[in-house]
Amino acid sequence: MFFKTIKFKLTLWYVVILGIILSSFALFLYVTLADSLYRGLDNKIKTMAEVIASSVRSPLGGGPSITDIDRIMTEHFGIRPLGRFIQVLDESGRVGGRSTNLRNVKIPVSVQTLKEAARGRVTFETIKGMGEYPLRVVTLPVIENGRMAGIIQVGSSLEGVEEALHQLLLIMLIAVPAALLVTSLGGLFLANKALRPVDGITQIARRIGSGDLSQRIRIKRVNDEIGRLASTFNEMIAKLQESFRQVKRFTADASHELKTPLTILRGEVEVGLKKKRNLGEYRQILASNLEEIDRMSRIVDDLLTLSRADMGEFKLEREEVDLSCLAREVWEDLQLLAQEKGVHLQYMNDGFSKVEGDPLLLRQLILNLVENGVKYTPSGGEVELRVRGSLEKKTVIIQVSDTGVGIDQEDLERVFDRFFRVDKARLRKTGGTGLGLSICRWIAQAHQGQIGVESLPEKGSTFTVTIPMKD
Ligand SMILES: Nc1ncnc2c1ncn2[C@@H]1O[C@H](COP(=O)(O)OP(=O)(O)OP(=O)(O)O)[C@@H](O)[C@H]1O
Ligand SMILES: [Mg+2]
Repeated sequence: MFFKTIKFKLTLWYVVILGIILSSFALFLYVTLADSLYRGLDNKIKTMAEVIASSVRSPLGGGPSITDIDRIMTEHFGIRPLGRFIQVLDESGRVGGRSTNLRNVKIPVSVQTLKEAARGRVTFETIKGMGEYPLRVVTLPVIENGRMAGIIQVGSSLEGVEEALHQLLLIMLIAVPAALLVTSLGGLFLANKALRPVDGITQIARRIGSGDLSQRIRIKRVNDEIGRLASTFNEMIAKLQESFRQVKRFTADASHELKTPLTILRGEVEVGLKKKRNLGEYRQILASNLEEIDRMSRIVDDLLTLSRADMGEFKLEREEVDLSCLAREVWEDLQLLAQEKGVHLQYMNDGFSKVEGDPLLLRQLILNLVENGVKYTPSGGEVELRVRGSLEKKTVIIQVSDTGVGIDQEDLERVFDRFFRVDKARLRKTGGTGLGLSICRWIAQAHQGQIGVESLPEKGSTFTVTIPMKD
C-alpha cells in the first residue's frame, strides 16, 4: 500500500536522482584526486632521478658507490627522503648500485623498460608484490655523448597515495548513503506535509460519496494547487447539492400536482357510485372526470417534455419557420378563448421574421405566452401579440404584452422556474401547473434565443423572446 503512494514515489525519485548526482560527483572527485596524486608522485620521482643523473655525470664511469648515492641525496634533499628507493643500472641492465634502504632487494626491470630506456625514453610503472604497498618506479636513461651510459631508477612506495584514496573512498562510502538516508527521510517528511491536504479531500469525498452533500473541504491556502483543487471540488459539490435539491423538489411538486386531479377524480367517481343515478347525472360526472383527465394528461405531457429536454434527448427539427405565420395561427386559434373571457386579442407583425427551428415547439412557445396573457388579464383588458424582425441585430422578436394582473418584482425571475405560480390557491381554478414558462424558456434557449419579462403589478406584463434570424 505504502509503496503505491505518491509520497513514496516522489521520495524514491528524489533519492534516486540525488544518488546519481552524488555518486557521479564522488566518482569524479576520486578519479581527479587519484590522477593528481599519481601525477604529483611521478613528478617528484622523476625530478629526483634527473637530479641524480645530473649530479653523477658518469653514474657508472667512476663507479659511484651506494654511499655516493646516499651522499648525493643528502646533499640535494637535505635529509634522505624516506620511502624513496634508488637503483642505478649500467647500459646492459645490470645493477650497479642501490640506496641503502633497498638493502639486497632488487627493483625488477622488464625488458620492455630497458628497450624504452635504450631509446632514450622515460618510463613510469607500478610494481606490485614488493611489500604491502605497490612501488611506483621511474626509469630514466642517462645519455652521455649521444649514447646511453646508464639507467637511474627511483621508486617510491604508493602507501601515501593509496592510503589517501582509500580514506576518500571510505568517507564516500559512508557519507553518500548517509546523505541519501537523511534526504529520503526529509523528502518523505516534505511529501507527507505537502500531500496531507489531499488525504483530507479524500476523506471528505468519501463522506460525500456516502450521501452527505453538505460536507465541504476547509481550505487553508486558496492560492496553491491543493487549495485550487479543493475550491473547485467544493464548487462542484455545491452544484451537485443544488441539482439534487432541484430534482427532489421537482419530483415532490410533480407528484403533488398529479395528486390533486386524482383526488378529485376519485371523489367524483365515488359519489357517482354511491347510489343509482339518471343518465344526465352520469353524463355530468363523466364530463367532469374528463376535465381532470385532460388536466392530468397536460401535466404529464409537460413533464415529459421537460425531462426529455433535461436529458438532452429532445431531437429538435431544424427547418425554416416564419414566426409571423405561426403567430397568426396561434392568434386565430385563441380568438374564441379570448372572446369568452372578454379580452381583446390583437396581432401585429413587422419585417422579416424567418428563423430556423422546430415549428411545433415554436408554436407551443407562442401559445403558452398568449394563453398566459389571456389567463392573467381580467375581462375588458387587452393582449397584444407582436412579431418583429430586426435586420441589424439579425434577430426576430416575439412580444406578448397584456394589461393584466402583472407580476411582483420579487417574483419576476422565478416565473420561469418549474411549478412556480404567483398565487397557487387563487389560480387553481384557471388550471395552471406552473410549467408553461419553464418550457418556454427551454424552447427559446434550444433555439439559441432568450426570454425575458417586464411587469408592473396591476398594470400588465410584457414577455419578450428573441431568436436569431435565419440568414
Ligand atoms: N402574463 C402574465 N401576467 C401575470 N402573471 C403571469 C403571466 N404569465 C405568467 N404569470 C405568472 O407566472 C406563473 C407561471 O406561469 P406558467 O405559464 O409557467 O404557469 P401557469 O400558467 O400557471 O401554468 P401552465 O403550466 O398551465 O402554463 C403563473 O402561475 C402566473 O402566476
Ligand atoms: Mg401558462
